[in-house]
Amino acid sequence: MPIAPMTNAVGIDLGTSTIKVTCGDMRYRIPSVIGTPNPGWTGMATDKSWLNNLIIDDDGTDVYIGELARLQSEIRKPLASEGKMKSVKNSVLALKAILSLIMKSTYEQFVISTGVPIATGVAESKELIKSLKGTHEIKVKNDATGEAKQMKILVENCFVMPEPYGTYWYTLKNSGVTTAVDSIIVDIGHGTTDILCMYKGNMMRAASGSLEEAVDSLTSALARAIQDKTGKIVRPFDLMMAIEKNKKNILVGGKAINIDSAMSQAVTSIADVIVDESNRLLNNLPPDAWIEKVIVCGGGAYVFGDYLRQAFFDANIVKKPEEVLTPPDAVMSNAIGFEMIAATKLKK
Ligand SMILES: Nc1ncnc2c1ncn2[C@@H]1O[C@H](COP(=O)(O)OP(=O)(O)OP(=O)(O)O)[C@@H](O)[C@H]1O
Ligand SMILES: [Mg+2]
Repeated sequence: MPIAPMTNAVGIDLGTSTIKVTCGDMRYRIPSVIGTPNPGWTGMATDKSWLNNLIIDDDGTDVYIGELARLQSEIRKPLASEGKMKSVKNSVLALKAILSLIMKSTYEQFVISTGVPIATGVAESKELIKSLKGTHEIKVKNDATGEAKQMKILVENCFVMPEPYGTYWYTLKNSGVTTAVDSIIVDIGHGTTDILCMYKGNMMRAASGSLEEAVDSLTSALARAIQDKTGKIVRPFDLMMAIEKNKKNILVGGKAINIDSAMSQAVTSIADVIVDESNRLLNNLPPDAWIEKVIVCGGGAYVFGDYLRQAFFDANIVKKPEEVLTPPDAVMSNAIGFEMIAATKLKK
């Protein structure tokens, strides 16, 4: 008896700065950028992984994907910005290339569930579903080794939802809750914070939105504070590592300076904006809504999480600080939730 080919359930979070992908024990974070080819000096790279050397063929033209585009392309196109998906065509191209990373054979089937930034329009979401469903030929190349692969995929089904919904689903399933709980999910990313309100299991459009205050506003504010204090210019990007490692002292122009107080000032003012906006959005919920959980996710949860727990409580949005929670893997939680959703749609 022939064995029916297996279908992979894949969860994707198409963020403005990184795409997250999960499928079984595979987890990837890929910069949300594609770019023009810029060949040269290949074969010397120490990192020969497909993930970081990914090229896809687009009707005869090479397109660099993710890290390779970020590092080597002269013209780079972000897949999303200003809280929206930019181009469906480019997103599909990147997603096809990314699916090739998951494949173990030359033909595989997928059910995909993907999150897009909250301000992405319905038309774009529908177009994304339409363009992803069906069969695709994929031709990819590894820039470091020159190795080429050709494969075919069938996307049996595809679901597109606002990014934070993945974390909502993941948190509910993880905590064993079976009934819908009125919640706010606050996804603090690099360039945008998405706020999604859930009421009786429905995503409430008028009570959801996005903000430009996010982790990069924190690094910019810090950079300004450091410049005021030392007269030296620091690039916000270079402060990202210091923030991720929770460093109190950093080296500026050869001198150690303490960023503790500048950091807490910036965290406070940005977190306050996030709480204010959540409060404003909550006004659009029906009066019988009862927020039982505020779920904070995204990389920003690591920086703003503690302050937000108290601030949401002080603003009377939750009744106890413990009702503000962060999932175990706050950066991947949307994608993990989407993979769980995709898994429920697999044909039995
Ligand atoms: N462990 C950590 N501690 C502190 N900051 C972190 C940590 N991990 C990631 N970050 C920061 O969080 C940001 C990335 O978060 P995330 O991956 O959620 O953003 P994104 O989804 O790509 O962006 P967006 O939601 O705007 O599309 C980066 O600015 C990074 O510096
Ligand atoms: Mg995000």
